[in-house]
Amino acid sequence: MSILTGKRILLGITGSIAAYKGADLASKLTQAGALVDTILSPGAEKFISPLTFQSVTGRKAFTDAELWGGEAHVLHIGLGHSADLLIIAPGTANTLAKLANGQADTLLTITALATECPILIAPAMDGGMYAHPATQRNLRTLAERGVSFVGPVTGHLASGLIGVGRMADPHEIAGMAKVVLGRSLGRLHGKQIVITAGGSQEPIDPVRVITNHSSGKQGYALAQAALELGAEVTLISHPTALSAPVGAQLVMVNTVAEMLAAVLSTVEQADALIMAAAVADFRVKKVAENKLKKQDGIPQIELEAAPDILATVARHRSSLTRLKAVVGFAAESRDLLENAQAKLFSKKLDFIAANDISAQDAGFAVETNRITLLFADGKREILPLLTKNEVADIILARLAAILE
Ligand code: PMT
Repeated sequence: MSILTGKRILLGITGSIAAYKGADLASKLTQAGALVDTILSPGAEKFISPLTFQSVTGRKAFTDAELWGGEAHVLHIGLGHSADLLIIAPGTANTLAKLANGQADTLLTITALATECPILIAPAMDGGMYAHPATQRNLRTLAERGVSFVGPVTGHLASGLIGVGRMADPHEIAGMAKVVLGRSLGRLHGKQIVITAGGSQEPIDPVRVITNHSSGKQGYALAQAALELGAEVTLISHPTALSAPVGAQLVMVNTVAEMLAAVLSTVEQADALIMAAAVADFRVKKVAENKLKKQDGIPQIELEAAPDILATVARHRSSLTRLKAVVGFAAESRDLLENAQAKLFSKKLDFIAANDISAQDAGFAVETNRITLLFADGKREILPLLTKNEVADIILARLAAILE
């Protein structure tokens, strides 16, 4: 389940060639469980038919024909009031100008004026129109009123030129919709959360590294769950094959030292830190300047202790006045609860997710985890086998309870 499940999304389509991508967006939102009602502007109807939207959403798509129908006097009120979010994608320069000036001459602009739900706009227009001072002023006016924007991005425009004005990808818009809904409904609205994900890479020589099997899945799931609860998320990650959740501020790192520096520079402004990353405990004492050659024989590589990030944060805790909660993970193949309890205590955590990596269906790279949560006050919560998304939802709910 995502925050979109069961939510009523009003999708406004306006007159741009990008209207065809609006159908993909409607499909993505519907597949995520949202109830999508579409309103096409008269311009949009020239590019795409209401039937396209009805076919992908399974719900009625409205046009200005309904504006003058029997239900006309209540339609825009009903649509606007029942919506959790109004997305306008594509949003043309003309529509932005109308909204900025409170003009209400189509079913879409009347509804936008009547609704009290959050509004997200994905602008789409030619580069010159986007850069025009009038458009820029309209964007500022709308932003000051609390309207959120996604894009536009740089790319091929309908004019044949390359520039800024292309509508954001539907995947990005759907991701941003989750962020905007999270901010309006979520328990972590206004909270800053730093999350680490993936493994670490400690160099041996210019081509070789010591690393581990962490895929980043658990950390990225935590970041997505935090965003959907309305938090501002900094995701500090080792390179992975995953794409970062839309709305998270991504900081890429390789070594433990880089992750430590990134954590220390962001945690000062954070309400909570979640260390899901599998960080090296040891690193190479003297990294070889040149590639080690096999003709020179088997190398003797001396290791030293890598800095412990959570222990360092614990030492600075008294000066980190905003930081209200620190959550760790313990990946253990034996003596799970004893080892996790020791880490909870030594790293001064609020709670720790003890992760039984001896099981085939838990730990590194797989889709599921078997977790027991151990809290500083001695309470324990044994979770069944869950997807990493479900684990993330539970951890964020427990964290929200501490921050509240
Ligand atoms: O990325 P996935 O494939 O989804 O896998 C998820 C996971 C198995 C990596 C994750 O769920 C997990 O268990 N992460 C913690 C793994 C780990 O490093 O545990 P640890 O017991 O070695 O470390 C204990 C805690 O100290 C962790 O929160 C770790 O981030 C932190 N640590 C560890 C070493 C170090 N030098 N500094 C640290 O802060």
